[in-house]
Amino acid sequence: MYGLINKSLKSMVIDNHGADVWQEIMDASGIPVDSFISMQRYDDAITYSLVGAAATVLDTPTESCLEQFGLYWATVTAPEAYSILLDTTGSNLIDFLEHTNELHDRITSTFIGYIPPYFEVSRQDNRIALRYESKREGLTPFVIGVVKGLAERFNSTLVFDETQYIAVPEGETSVIHFSIA
Ligand code: HEM
Repeated sequence: MYGLINKSLKSMVIDNHGADVWQEIMDASGIPVDSFISMQRYDDAITYSLVGAAATVLDTPTESCLEQFGLYWATVTAPEAYSILLDTTGSNLIDFLEHTNELHDRITSTFIGYIPPYFEVSRQDNRIALRYESKREGLTPFVIGVVKGLAERFNSTLVFDETQYIAVPEGETSVIHFSIA
């Protein structure tokens, strides 16, 4: 995963819990200190180790850490670093989600060889089904956090139903169900 993802995780922990807690997480993860250069690609194992260590040190389930991280990504990191990209992707939550694949496509020449996820939005009245397909495993809670962060950005109130996990031979596919109140 590109270093900017690891760097954003680091900022979230420091903002919310302070530098000492971050140091504890680094010690527990055992990952190299130079894993945070934004435009460098690192092994996904580094990101997973950091999230695992954060869950242990903060005594919080991994899924909650990932969801918090998604929320932070959408409300802090992306607006700080990629505001133009955000502003030009959609003018409301659904419009934005329908253009998230294009958003990731637009940055493929910046993030060479990166592996973005794929999304599909289905809508029936105010009930939304967001299908998420990834080559990676375990990141659905991160997506839920991003969606919650985007809802804050667009002043939408969401009610989440149970997320469905689809059995796939590789990676992860899920359908996140929610309605707009
Ligand atoms: C300005 C906005 C965004 C930027 C710059 C961005 C960029 C990136 C980058 C660089 C990666 C790492 C992929 C890799 O290193 O192989 C990534 C992964 C990811 N992005 Fe985005 N992204 C943005 C918005 C979003 C939004 C709005 C969503 C969800 C609705 C999203 C969902 C994800 C997920 C789930 C991953 C993890 C990879 C996976 O699932 O396999 N991103 N993105």
